[in-house]
Order: sequence, then structure tokens, then C-alpha cells
Amino acid sequence: MKRTLYLETFGCQMNVLDSELVLSQLRARGFEQTPHRDSADVVLFNTCSVRQHAEQKVWSRLGELRQARRERPQMVIGVIGCMAEREGTAIFQRFPHVDILCGPGELDKLPAMVHNAVIERELDAVGGYGPEPFDGREDSPIGGTQENGTGSSRRRQVALMGASFRRSGTLDAARTDNLELLDLSRAISPADGVRQAYVRITRGCNKFCTYCVVPYTRGPEVHRPPGNIIEEVRRLVGAGAVEVTLLGQTINHYCYEHGDGRRTTFADLLYQLHEAVPDLPRLRFVTSYPRDFTDQALAVMRDCRRICRYLHVPAQSGSDRILKAMNRGYSTGQYLDFVDRAREFMPDVSLASDFIVGFPTETDADFAQTVQLLRRCRFKNSFIFKYSPRPGTVAVERFADDVPEDVKRRRNNDLLAVQTEICHQNNQAMVGQTVEILVEGASKLVSRRASEPAGGVILRWERAPAEADAKVTQLVGRTRGDQVVCFEGDSGWIGRIMQVRIVDARNLTLFGAPVEQGSGIVPSCHAIPTG
Ligand code: 5AD
Ligand code: SF4
Repeated sequence: MKRTLYLETFGCQMNVLDSELVLSQLRARGFEQTPHRDSADVVLFNTCSVRQHAEQKVWSRLGELRQARRERPQMVIGVIGCMAEREGTAIFQRFPHVDILCGPGELDKLPAMVHNAVIERELDAVGGYGPEPFDGREDSPIGGTQENGTGSSRRRQVALMGASFRRSGTLDAARTDNLELLDLSRAISPADGVRQAYVRITRGCNKFCTYCVVPYTRGPEVHRPPGNIIEEVRRLVGAGAVEVTLLGQTINHYCYEHGDGRRTTFADLLYQLHEAVPDLPRLRFVTSYPRDFTDQALAVMRDCRRICRYLHVPAQSGSDRILKAMNRGYSTGQYLDFVDRAREFMPDVSLASDFIVGFPTETDADFAQTVQLLRRCRFKNSFIFKYSPRPGTVAVERFADDVPEDVKRRRNNDLLAVQTEICHQNNQAMVGQTVEILVEGASKLVSRRASEPAGGVILRWERAPAEADAKVTQLVGRTRGDQVVCFEGDSGWIGRIMQVRIVDARNLTLFGAPVEQGSGIVPSCHAIPTG
């Protein structure tokens, strides 16, 4: 019997990839994905803990499911990913109707857990047990299932990495092997029509920035064997992928020890991938850590034409005092040296950053230094976040969250305004240039009431759902430098790499026109490092 699965993903690209792996595992076991949450047999939320806001969304989703579960007691509900790992069994106390908890480091166990939970719930439904109240008697969550203590046949399914692994520098071989098998199990088929794909090269993080939950939820850093990565990329390209994005929390820290004295560095891996998979037009990677970038890696980016000249290198702050309190391990001067070095190697490199505003003790003077850093670096884009205290992190233990919310909001808006001004100038400078884009999908022009004083209507582009009208002619593509370009064209071009000329830049959006060569529009197969 086919069972239906609703899977909703929150957070970063790593979660998107984890969801893809989970989906392919569960599909192989007869599950069919459904967009209808409340009538699904199994509902899974792949969660993010990086900021409180991301967790709140999941809490409200779980609340919304109460009624559906009351009506269909055989429904199985699972919380997977970082929030499962961080909150642990406390989730059961708040939401007794949750059946499965699975941390991001334990996803290889999920198919068996889902299977068990489905069987148990169906038995419960037949036997007339409903959802039971939680009696608070659960203890060790590590590695298995447990009774919920209500006398029901139901056992909750729990797989968490637990505290024992969190601060250790290594993982036991069996655990890493199983996770590696999960990555290798990925179903790759030309029938899926995949054009853009993520490939993990590193799991976890060892940096322990004081504000961040990732080292606690995803565990210590583990590097995947280069042979497996190359093979995965080859298979993806064989199935039609034209852009592969390598993933890692501090990706340029990648270094694989082969055990016989040989090691493959990040620069080696990039070069080997570029040479081993010549049919891949675009190779990207995120996220880079400012301190670990070698000249070798920058030289490989400069010399290998199919590697996109795009670096996402979060600065987080422009104040040395705050960087120290964040345990970032570099000073503003070192960050700026890196930016200068990257631009020396590749004058056209596109740089993006993350910033946290309102970190504990941040003063107006600290914030002014952040603004100064942004102005100096002129990022293509910045992701700006208000500091969100995360329980269990060093920052929470060490500092009070002492920057008031309205100050955080103001700094967020001010920094955004500076970035917007830079984006605007960068975009204007691109008008008239011809750039290579990968057509990502159809878009539709929608209007939105602006909160601007003028009260006018801002036009902005939004991605249309895949099933949008086949005749949609508004397309959206991305340059090698990660800029979004809107243009008119044929929906049959989606997934192609093409040349477009930038004809206008309005409201932070680039508008292009396809470059016609001879009688027709020629999608290019070769990557030209523009944009
Ligand atoms: N509060 C606000 N932003 C955070 N980030 C990570 N942890 C927090 C936090 N506790 C931001 C950082 C990181 C990005 C992925 O999320 O800027 O680079
Ligand atoms: Fe978090 Fe810092 Fe690791 Fe990035 S480098 S995942 S911010 S601990």
C-alpha cells in the first residue's frame, strides 16, 4: 500500500540536501510525496535552530497539526534536523502528538524509524488508543526508541547524537560510515530533470562561534572522501545537472586525510573536480570561512574557467572587539586582507557576506565599524540578521542579550540600507554588459503595496510555481556571480545556460535581453566568467 509523505524544509541548503536524501530513501520504501499536509500519512518537518524565529515557525506548525491528528490518529508526525537535536525530548512535553525525533547526524536511521512509527500508530488506531499525554518519564535520548510510559503499545522513535558527541573532536567510524552511505544512497535519475544540485563535502563544524548552535546540532567536522564526491558529481552531471554547489559549513577548511600520508586539500578537490567532470558548466561552493582561504584555492578558482567566481564569506561584524566575543578567530584587518587577496587573484570576483547586528555589548561605535567594513568591501549581497540568543551556546552563558530589540531593528535596517545602495550602484554598472546566466525558472511580475512614504506600488519579481502556465514568458536566471536577472523568453529555456545583455537595473533587479547570435538564440555550453 502506498503511503503519503508531507515533508517541509526550513533553513539552509544543508537541510534542503538532507530533505532530498530523506525523500529518496522514503520513496524507495513506497512513500509518495504529497503537498497536502493534513491528510498525509506521515508529516516530517526538517527544522532549523539557527535563530529563534525559525524554531517558532515549527512550533506553530506542530500546533496546527493537533486537530488533524485528532481526526486521524494513525497520522505519524516527525521532527527532524537541528531543532530535534537541540530541543530533544522536550518537544514531546510541548507536543505529545510528535512520534519521531531525529537529529541531522542520525538521518540514516530515519527510514526504519518512520516504518516503525507507521506500524505502531496503525496498531494504536486499530486498538483505539488515541494520542496519549506525555508523562515526562523519558530519559536518555541517545540512539533508539523508548516507551512513552502510558501503557499504550506506542513507542516513540528517537535518534539524537546527544551530548556525548558534541564536544568530541572525532566521530566513531560506524556513525560516519552510515552517514556516508546515506549521501551515497542518493537517487539520481535523468527522469528527475535536475539542473542544479547540492553536494555535501563536509559535515558539521568545529569553529564554535559563540552565538551558533551548528557545532552542537550537526556535530564535529567530518570530510567526505574525494573519490565519493567526484563520483557523485559525475553521476549528477550524467543525469543532466548543469550547476553543482558544494556544501560545507566552513567549506574551504576541507582536507581529507587518506590514511597513507596523502591528503586532499580544498584546492586539490576543486581542481580535481574541475578536471574530472569537464561536462559540468558551473561549479560553486558555500560557505567559506575567512581565515582558511589559501592562495592555492584562490589560484584554482582563477585558473579553472568552470568554477564560478563567487565567494560567500561571512564577516559577521566589523568590530574587532565583537569578533573576539564571537570567537570568530580573525580581526577586521585579517578579513580585509583576505578580501584584497581574493580581488588580486580575481578582480571580477563576486563577494557576499553575513552580518549579525545587536550581538551582546555591541555599541553604536562597534556598529559604525561594521558599516565601514561593508562600505569598504562593497559586497554583492549581505544577509543581515538580528542576534538571536540560542540556549546552550557560549554567548548565552557569557553575555546578557543587552541590545534592545528596537536598536537591533534599527541597525538591521541601517545596514540593509547601505547594502541596498551598494547593490544599486553595482547593478547600474552592469547595464550594457553581456552575462552568462543559468535559466532557473519562470517568474511573474507581481505588485506589492510599498510602505514607502510615496505609498506607490513597487514592482518586484517572484518565482512562479513550477506548474505555472506553460506560456509564461517572464524568466529568471542567475549569473555566475549569483546575481538574479529577469528577462522575457520561452519557458522551454528553463535549465539552459544562455547569454543575456543587461538592459536595465531597477528596484535592485537586473533586467536582461537574450543575446541573439545569427538567426536564433544560442544557449552557450561553455562557461565564460562574467557577472
Ligand atoms: N543569531 C543571529 N544570527 C545567527 N547566525 C548564526 N547564529 C545566529 C544567531 N544566534 C547567522 C550568521 C550565520 C548565518 C547562517 O546565520 O550570520 O553566518
Ligand atoms: Fe556556526 Fe561559526 Fe560554524 Fe559558521 S563557522 S556554522 S557560524 S560555528
